[in-house]
Amino acid sequence: MFETLPEQPADKILQLMQMFRDDPRERKIDLGVGVYKNAEGVTPIMRAVKTAEKRIWDTETSKSYTGLPGTPEYNDAMVKLVLGDAVPRDTVASAATPGGTGAVHHGFMLARKASPGLTVWYSDPTWPNHVAILNHLGIPSRAYRYFDRDSGTVDVAGMLEDLGSAAAGDVVLLHGCCHNPTGANLTMEDWQQVIAVIRDRGLLPMIDIAYQGFGDGLDADAAPTRAVVSACPEAIVAASCSKNFGVYKERAGIVMAVDRDASRRAVTQGNLNALNRLTYSFAPDHGARLVSTVLSDEALRADWQAELEDVREGMLGLRQALADALRQETNSDRFDFLARHRGMFSMLGLSPDEVKSLREDHGIYIIGDSRMNIAGLNSETVPILAKAVAEVIR
Ligand code: LMR
Repeated sequence: MFETLPEQPADKILQLMQMFRDDPRERKIDLGVGVYKNAEGVTPIMRAVKTAEKRIWDTETSKSYTGLPGTPEYNDAMVKLVLGDAVPRDTVASAATPGGTGAVHHGFMLARKASPGLTVWYSDPTWPNHVAILNHLGIPSRAYRYFDRDSGTVDVAGMLEDLGSAAAGDVVLLHGCCHNPTGANLTMEDWQQVIAVIRDRGLLPMIDIAYQGFGDGLDADAAPTRAVVSACPEAIVAASCSKNFGVYKERAGIVMAVDRDASRRAVTQGNLNALNRLTYSFAPDHGARLVSTVLSDEALRADWQAELEDVREGMLGLRQALADALRQETNSDRFDFLARHRGMFSMLGLSPDEVKSLREDHGIYIIGDSRMNIAGLNSETVPILAKAVAEVIR
C-alpha cells in the first residue's frame, strides 16, 4: 500500500544542511540553518543552562508526567518573558509544545477550530515551514507583500494594502522580531499601522517569536508582540526557546492564546490541552525545565541574559564587519542594509545562480533564496564571504 505514498517536497533548509555535511571539502562555510555558532564555530551550551541541567540532575526525583499543558513554572515564566505585563495573566491560555514548530502548528489548529473557513496570511517571504505546515493541514493561505528586494527594507505600504483585503476572521501571521528569512523588520510606528488594519478588519493576529533577544534586546524584541496583544481583542503567540536558550534539540516552545477576557480562558485552555493530548499527549519537559530553572533563579537568569547579550552584540558586530567588507570589495553601498537588519538572518539579494556559485566554487552554503545565517560567521570568514560575494556578482 505504501507504493501509493506521494514523494514529499524537500525542505530547503534541511536539504542544504545535509549537502553541507556531505561536502568533503575542508574549506567550507555553513551559513544555512539557523543555529548560532561562536567564534570557534561551536554551538555552545549556555552557561546558565548547563548549571540548570546539573541542578535538575541533582534534585529531580521523578520522571512522571507533568500537567497536559506543561508545568505552571514554565508556562508562567514564558508568558512573562514574552508578554511582560501587556495583558492580565488570567486572560492567557498556554501550552508547552515541542519547540516553536509545535507551537506554530497548534496555533494554526486552534485558529482553524475557532474559525473553520479562515485564510492565513503570511509574509512574502516567510520561514518555509510556515507554508509547509499550512499546506499539510489543508488551511488556505495567501501571501502579503513584505520585502522590497531592491532596498532590503520592508514594503510597509504593500503589506498594509494586502492586509486591507483580508476578510474578518482571517489570521495574519507576523514575525515578532528578527524576521526570518529577510532580517528586515517593521518599526514600532509600522507596527501601529498593522495593528490598526488588524482591528479595523477584525483579523486575528498570530505572532511567531523565535528570536527574542537576538535583535535589539529581550524587551525591545518583545515590544511589538506586547503592543499587538494589548491592542487586539484576541491573539495567538508561538514562542521558541531553541535559539535564545540554545536548547535546539530539547524542543522547548510554547503556544499562548490571549482571550478577550478572563471568562473565556478556561475553554481556550481546554482546547490547547486537547491539542497536546491528541497530537502527542505531553510535551517534552527537559528543555522546558531547563528554561524555567534559569528564569526562576535570579543569578542564573542574570548570567543567561549576559551571555545572550554577548551573542546579540557579537551578531551586530559581524553584521557591521560584513557590510564594511562588502562595501570595500564591491565598491558600492549595495549591501549596507546588512548592518541595519536584525536577528540571525539576512537576505543578500543574490540570484539562484550566484547562490549556486557561492556553494560550488567557494564552499559557502546559504539558502537558495540567498538567506544567510549571520551567526554562522566569524572574523575569519567575514572577508572570505565578502570576497566570494564580490566575485559571484561580478
Ligand atoms: C531556520 O530557519 O533555519 C531555523 O528556524 C531552523 C529550522 O528548523 O528551519
